[in-house]
Amino acid sequence: MATTASVKPLQFKIIAECSTSNARTSIMSLPHFNVETPVFMPVGTKGSIKGVLNQQLETLNCQIILGNTYHLGIKPGIDVLQKAGGLHKFMGWKRALLTDSGGFQMVSLLKFAEIKEEGVKFQSTYGDGAELMLSPEHSTKIQNIIGADIMMQLDDVNPTTLTGPRVVEAKDRTVRWLDRCLAAHENPTTQNIFPIVQGGLDETLRKDCAQQLTERDVNGFAVGGLSGGEAKEDFWYSVMISVNSLPKEKPRYIMGIGFAVDLLICCALGADMFDCVFPTRTARFGSALVRQGQLYLKNSCYATDGRPIDEDCPCSTCKRYTRSYLHHIVTMEPSACHLLSVHNIAFQMRLMQEIRESIKSQTFPQYVKDYMKDVYPEGN
Ligand code: GUN
Ligand code: ZN
Repeated sequence: MATTASVKPLQFKIIAECSTSNARTSIMSLPHFNVETPVFMPVGTKGSIKGVLNQQLETLNCQIILGNTYHLGIKPGIDVLQKAGGLHKFMGWKRALLTDSGGFQMVSLLKFAEIKEEGVKFQSTYGDGAELMLSPEHSTKIQNIIGADIMMQLDDVNPTTLTGPRVVEAKDRTVRWLDRCLAAHENPTTQNIFPIVQGGLDETLRKDCAQQLTERDVNGFAVGGLSGGEAKEDFWYSVMISVNSLPKEKPRYIMGIGFAVDLLICCALGADMFDCVFPTRTARFGSALVRQGQLYLKNSCYATDGRPIDEDCPCSTCKRYTRSYLHHIVTMEPSACHLLSVHNIAFQMRLMQEIRESIKSQTFPQYVKDYMKDVYPEGN
């Protein structure tokens, strides 16, 4: 009798592992693209990476981007997205896409959110007085219409440094909401749902949460509730505990991480995917990322600096423009925001490419050491 092999919408093939850390590099095959990990995903909250065109993202070797269910569900709304045939077609993006569930907006829009077992009720932040009830079922429905390769479960998110019974409640509710998301999911052969480990900065709660999530049939996992002002030691420790509690053979995504040093450490701990608004947001404030940190181009020290942002950067901004010129236009021209966004995304993509190559050539520990020396030249 012929059997139909169940085709998974995600294959995770580890290509190389670092022999002295938990870092690994893989090909994560998704319906719209084969993504190389570790990967950084630029954030296009409302269906556009601010200031950058899709074709430029492709040139920069960007393989997967992120959109947000809360924002897209309000505007353009599910009717428009459904008519367009999903977000890929609507925004003209052909590669992989991940949508966050809207859970994080509980923290970022705390004043406008009311959290109950049924879901989260938001007062619309679009000034129209409307209310949005985001339940696990509704978040899943919107994400099914958006059609991203990876959808995030609706999770119950706390401010990172919160302690006490509310952290336990949020952790347990996140597991219950995962089951509701999985039950509501209509496209399990073409879209993946990733659960999210919560549990604050408490080791026992994180382990317990991860343990329960891994009992569900899913193709990858995320770690949430971090990078919200906690001490670096607490952040790295929580990442380590969470990652070590998740299966090695599935992708592990640390949400909201984008600083180079954090990316290096999380990769060493065995994480595979990251996202953050930081590179594109800081570009809009006039900051260019370089290995030593950031160049704040409004600063008068760049007024006559004839060098590119980074002589070794292959991006179109660095090939053509000087710091002096960028300083001149940065306060008055939208093109400056565009040029800095292109550079900052190029910076993140190159960092991840170098991480992947160093894991393949078994030079990742040395790569991290050299990088840290550049970031902390005094050795502290
Ligand atoms: N983005 C950053 N952190 C989180 C989190 O904990 N949950 C969700 N859904 N998104 C995030
Ligand atoms: Zn550049």
